[in-house]
Amino acid sequence: MTDNIDTIKKCCGCTPPSGDQQQQTQSIDLSVHSHHGILFKWIEQFKFSYGVIDLRDTIQYQSKHIKHTTSIPFNELPIRIFELPPRGQEEEYIVTKESLQQVMNDLAFRSGYIIHFVINLEDDSHLWQKLTKLDLVQSGSQSRLLWQACSFLTDSIQEVEDSLRKEKEKSSMTTTKESIETIITALDLGCGSGRDCLYLAQRGGWTAVGVDNSDTLLSKMTEAANRYNLSDRIQSYNIDLEPVQSDEPYHDTDYSNRQLKSTTKEDLEKLQHLEATLLNLSPGQEGYELVNVARYLYRPLLPIIASIVKPGGFVLYHTFMVPSNGKPKRPRFLLNYNELKERFLSSKFEIIKYQETKLLEDGRPVQFLLARKPIN
Ligand SMILES: C[S@@+](CC[C@H](N)C(=O)[O-])C[C@H]1O[C@@H](n2cnc3c(N)ncnc32)[C@H](O)[C@@H]1O
Repeated sequence: MTDNIDTIKKCCGCTPPSGDQQQQTQSIDLSVHSHHGILFKWIEQFKFSYGVIDLRDTIQYQSKHIKHTTSIPFNELPIRIFELPPRGQEEEYIVTKESLQQVMNDLAFRSGYIIHFVINLEDDSHLWQKLTKLDLVQSGSQSRLLWQACSFLTDSIQEVEDSLRKEKEKSSMTTTKESIETIITALDLGCGSGRDCLYLAQRGGWTAVGVDNSDTLLSKMTEAANRYNLSDRIQSYNIDLEPVQSDEPYHDTDYSNRQLKSTTKEDLEKLQHLEATLLNLSPGQEGYELVNVARYLYRPLLPIIASIVKPGGFVLYHTFMVPSNGKPKRPRFLLNYNELKERFLSSKFEIIKYQETKLLEDGRPVQFLLARKPIN
């Protein structure tokens, strides 16, 4: 018991998991009952702040589960591993599953996650009684989302929402929160498996339109949206966002008057067609309150983004910048110094937040911008 508590204390020291911690994981005592103390510590002391995965099958979960846990049936874990937060954070997991050794082998070692303890929930009437007394047992399909949106989005979303609501209130003269909330639409370009779209959808008040050219990734997003009852708030489209060849010449593009140097008339038409397509996906074809781009760059899209954001709306962008620190390497995927700021300033956006050369956990430099389109 003491060993287990020690393990959790060490991991709350806010240091990314290291080889040493992997070692600790291997030496964890898996005896079932000794871990109840840590479960109650998660409830009482940590206030559900980290993820607890229930690996039982869906029927078992829906008939009875602990509140604030996440249902991922064990056999679905390999294809749903993307739903977990990124590896290498100071997260702890309680995993509930009958076959403890299987969990250790399959999840922790193969995927690199750290498991702090495992509880066998079945047939433990004493545990269920205790949890019921604390009003922590429920039935049904509610399941907590574990994956994380990009932190630039989560750190800025409240500010974006407050500003949009204020403008809506002014323009529609309405004060009911509901009528304002239902009409916020975000477009996520290069949305991948939808971490940001799903986050916005589950926040409430948002409809998220995710665009990517990978069916595999888009289907992960739609499957997750279905599982978490978010499908009415998420739309996904397979669209090639790169209709024309774009390489280094686009560094010279004059975005202020939207002339694309080194571009043929045919290329311009293709880009105009892309702009019209993206606009058509927005409600009333009027544009988006938020265009979000995370870790994706195709320079000809920048003026299109500026155009399809509604007046008073926002662009939230972060992606890799020079110098390359591994991947990506090609200049066309790397922003230059101050580039996002200059691009959107030249489109007359107001810069709300700007961060240059923020380093990701793996050391790759990124640039981040939150900018607002003027109302007039
Ligand atoms: C590094 S991922 C970022 C995914 C997501 N935004 C995130 O942060 O998790 C880049 C995404 O851009 C998409 N992408 C690349 N080329 C594309 C294209 N020509 N059209 C549409 N999407 C594209 C990829 O499929 C991939 O999902």
